Amino acid sequence: MRESLLKIRESAVGEAARAADGRELENLRVKYLGRKGELTAILKQMGGLSESERPVIGQLANEVREAVSDAIDAAGKKLSNEAKLLKLAAETLDITLPGTPLARGHKHPLTIVLDEVVDLFLGMGFNVAEGPEAELTYYCFDALNTGEHHPARDWQDTFYFSDDVILRTQTSSVQIRVMEQNKPPIRIISPGRVYRKDEVDGTHSPLFHQVEGLVVDRGITFSDLKGTLETMIKGIYGPDAVIRFRPHHFPYTEPSAEVDLQCFNCHGSGCGLCKHEGWIELLGSGMVHPQVLRNCGIDPEVYSGFAFGVGLERLCMGRFDIRDMRMLFENDTRFLRQFS
Ligand code: DAH
Repeated sequence: MRESLLKIRESAVGEAARAADGRELENLRVKYLGRKGELTAILKQMGGLSESERPVIGQLANEVREAVSDAIDAAGKKLSNEAKLLKLAAETLDITLPGTPLARGHKHPLTIVLDEVVDLFLGMGFNVAEGPEAELTYYCFDALNTGEHHPARDWQDTFYFSDDVILRTQTSSVQIRVMEQNKPPIRIISPGRVYRKDEVDGTHSPLFHQVEGLVVDRGITFSDLKGTLETMIKGIYGPDAVIRFRPHHFPYTEPSAEVDLQCFNCHGSGCGLCKHEGWIELLGSGMVHPQVLRNCGIDPEVYSGFAFGVGLERLCMGRFDIRDMRMLFENDTRFLRQFS
């Protein structure tokens, strides 16, 4: 029996070491240590042993059982370790390989200039106000002293959703909305999209952007308007920019003025860029008409104000020397990349 036990130990330990996977090990466990296994079969014959042999063989049998069990456990650990190493090796990443470059976006030139304008006005204590693009004709025209048969409605023809709802032609509509909702002092700018029935060419687009400005308080004068616009223009075009105020008419301001920028190309002597005028028309402005204040429940005997509206595309084209407005809308990345 002694020999049989030693033989079982030898072959079981050897087979465990050679096992290829967990299932083979499980089969070995059954084969040697199971209820019908080889070791159990031998232990069953112990009854035939003498009194003196029984404890010796019993002890040996226990040692063999332990050795076989340990060998199977150890082989199992070794196999799972190897499997783990194989898996790690298979999943290795080469982190030294260069990655796929992610192209970083940048601001559109219109956004660059708009951000500059907003920054300048926030610095002067203005707030930014917004208004709807689908607007009531009341806010876009009537409340701005531009009645149904006013000629100014002609060149601001636009898309009519119904008799009194349109795509707004100017951000001036926001003036009325702000004055209806707020008591002076009021200091706002309102950037946004506007729409007109214009043919597309180098200086026109049926969709463009304006920035409206409005200040209403006690004692606001034309010099406040001049100082504010000069601050804006020099902020955008640099300290050497020269502007002039030219008398004009808008139904919602009195007096009204257009503001021209001295041509940065010829400095006023006249060239192709400024159509030999020396000046480039930039924006409309004026002192808010007393009737407009009254329309919003503000007493023109107590308060006065100024307003202006500037085309963002025009500001942007001057700022970056862009000669054709279509560039700003065509989304040609060869053009846009230059502003990264
Ligand atoms: N709304 C005018 C336009 O679209 C621009 C303008 C002129 C705005 C005078 C004003 C203003 O606020 O006072 O051409």
